[in-house]
Amino acid sequence: MNKGIQKIFAEVPKTYELINHVLTFGMDIICRKRAAKIGTKDGGAVWLDVCSGTGEMAANLARLGDNDTKVIATDFSLPMLKVAATKPEAKRINFVISDVKVLPFPDNSIDLIAISFATRNLNTNRETLIGHLREFHRVLRPGGRFVNLETSQPKNRLIRKLMHLYIKISVKQIGGMISGSKAGYAYLSHTVPRFYPADEFAEIIKQAGFGKVDYKQMFFGVIAVHKGVK
Ligand SMILES: C[S@@+](CC[C@H](N)C(=O)[O-])C[C@H]1O[C@@H](n2cnc3c(N)ncnc32)[C@H](O)[C@@H]1O
Repeated sequence: MNKGIQKIFAEVPKTYELINHVLTFGMDIICRKRAAKIGTKDGGAVWLDVCSGTGEMAANLARLGDNDTKVIATDFSLPMLKVAATKPEAKRINFVISDVKVLPFPDNSIDLIAISFATRNLNTNRETLIGHLREFHRVLRPGGRFVNLETSQPKNRLIRKLMHLYIKISVKQIGGMISGSKAGYAYLSHTVPRFYPADEFAEIIKQAGFGKVDYKQMFFGVIAVHKGVK
């Protein structure tokens, strides 16, 4: 388990959502909704939100499912999941404490895995990231979907530079000030500019064994939703 990352997320749960909404001007809410729609449109009985944090993606899944859909939210941070458990949708969500490295689910048992704004944390290096994606692939049933919502790298050089500048000057300061966790938001500002461009990340998903890999870019390529099928 990555104790450093766990420690960071133990410091920020209370203000985590507010800071995201402020820093992204609410774009994170729109993007989660869109990713949840993309992921859930093919149905299925069991939907899993990994690295669920305060449960915003899991809540979107719960709203889109019917009474028979089982929605599961996992994270290795109890403080983050405790906030998730206070949401009105929580009564429709099954919470599981788990590191994504080894998910506590059998092979071929899940119809949809969603992850939002967390893949950067799994990207210690490319091989480690592919290992995590293979674990998602293992628990998905054949035909099951993986949907990944994450910051990306705009193709346009000027927009990319502006995005990186914005992160450099705002995230550490605003995030650190509201949350009181300077380390947490220093970490965030470090990981965003280093994540993969959308086409390169699509290749990584393919390397993990997924087919029909596709992606949609949003907000000038600042954010991307990738989808892969087992
Ligand atoms: C930036 S938050 C994203 C939360 C949420 N998905 C969202 O859309 O806002 C990243 C979350 O990933 C969790 N996380 C990071 N590494 C993890 C791992 N190896 N296993 C399980 N959870 C992990 C953290 O505890 C944190 O709650």
